[in-house]
Amino acid sequence: MNILLLGSGGREHALAWKMAQSKKLAKLFIAPGNAGTASVGTNVDMNPNDFEAVKAFVLDNSINMIVVGPEEPLVRGIKDFVLNDPEIAQVPVIGPGKKGAELEGSKEFAKEFMKRHNVPTAGYLSVTSDNLEEGIEFLKSMKAPYVLKADGLAAGKGVLILDDLSEAETELKAMLDGKFGAASSTVVIEEFLSGIELSVFVLTDGHGYVVLPEAKDYKRIGEGDTGLNTGGMGAVSPVPFADGVFMKKVHDRIVVPTVEGLIKDNIPYKGFVFIGLMSVEGEPYVIEYNVRMGDPETEVVIPRLKSDLVDLFEAVASGTLRTKQIEVDERSATTVMCVAGGYPGAYEKGKVITGIENISEGLVFHAGTTVKNNEVVSNGGRVIALTAYGTDKDDALKQSFKNAQTLNFEGKYFRSDIGFDL
Ligand code: AMP
Ligand code: GLY
Repeated sequence: MNILLLGSGGREHALAWKMAQSKKLAKLFIAPGNAGTASVGTNVDMNPNDFEAVKAFVLDNSINMIVVGPEEPLVRGIKDFVLNDPEIAQVPVIGPGKKGAELEGSKEFAKEFMKRHNVPTAGYLSVTSDNLEEGIEFLKSMKAPYVLKADGLAAGKGVLILDDLSEAETELKAMLDGKFGAASSTVVIEEFLSGIELSVFVLTDGHGYVVLPEAKDYKRIGEGDTGLNTGGMGAVSPVPFADGVFMKKVHDRIVVPTVEGLIKDNIPYKGFVFIGLMSVEGEPYVIEYNVRMGDPETEVVIPRLKSDLVDLFEAVASGTLRTKQIEVDERSATTVMCVAGGYPGAYEKGKVITGIENISEGLVFHAGTTVKNNEVVSNGGRVIALTAYGTDKDDALKQSFKNAQTLNFEGKYFRSDIGFDL
């Protein structure tokens, strides 16, 4: 079958790399892709949010399936667009429709969903300019730190965690006044959860589901989890504290009520559910849902999946995922992200990347790269993820760090403490 994958990051390179290994795949196209995806498929210069262009490409290239990497086309309704167009309605889209995508697109929707279906999560109040006073009273009733979340998509920047009450009040007002544009015209105030985070990934066809290997990512730019938030600086899978007992709690209290909640709410859902969790003294709470795979978690989760990903996607499309079980590589996988100097602030692109050919052990997943004058150059803040396998996380990390040193470009930075807290 011919597959069109939308997106251009490390997540998409890992998904493309995996799908390219399937006997069921004929042609793989990635739009827009990066220098890495070009080695496992054909890049297409197309904006994933231009649905008319996607439609024309699907028709011109006999595409049999669309796999959506990032959240934006899903939140904008690519699935509904395809389903409502008789010329392409038969082409399955791996990813939820607009309603399901609200789990990521609206924090308020996600919190109400969790409340309705008894999924453990932090206590909250949803605030707009109409109930600002109530919001301030709610803040006063809580202990520091204070968690404020823009309801809508804010490019990963919409969450503020503040130690001081008066600062929290000021920020709440600023958010309602448009600090994050329309995304913060509603703000969710949340109880602060103290614990250790991890990410759990579920692939579902709306009824059946498989739980993929869990992972932990490292979001802060600085060592010891300090400094600004980034898209993710590295990841580890499996996560040692997520033992059988913990994962059974996650399954019974979170995965099952989530899938059943979607059914009860009449939300057809064929795609990934990324559950961001906090373990609070061994008890799992949901911090957020995303409606796609994580990045850089995909760069460790997918390498541990032994099963054929295209076969799983076919089962999602046909609604037969119940009949599938996945096989997982017992080894640890780790990834270390090399980023541009200055990231997540201002940074330069177009830096020539060398040394990739000297990496013999491990997997090189391109994130922000492109080809210019026959050279691989940086094209984003997160540039390349270096994944390695090992008998345990330390063994794998040794190789990931070694490969991060081997790779070179001007301004390169990576965190050399990924996994430090496990
Ligand atoms: P989110 O965009 O919802 O993933 O939030 C970004 C980050 O803020 C999360 O990865 C957590 O580290 C932190 N965070 C979000 N909500 C809470 C909470 N209720 N308690 C503690 N930390 C939180
Ligand atoms: N690594 C976190 C995310 O993909 O949102």
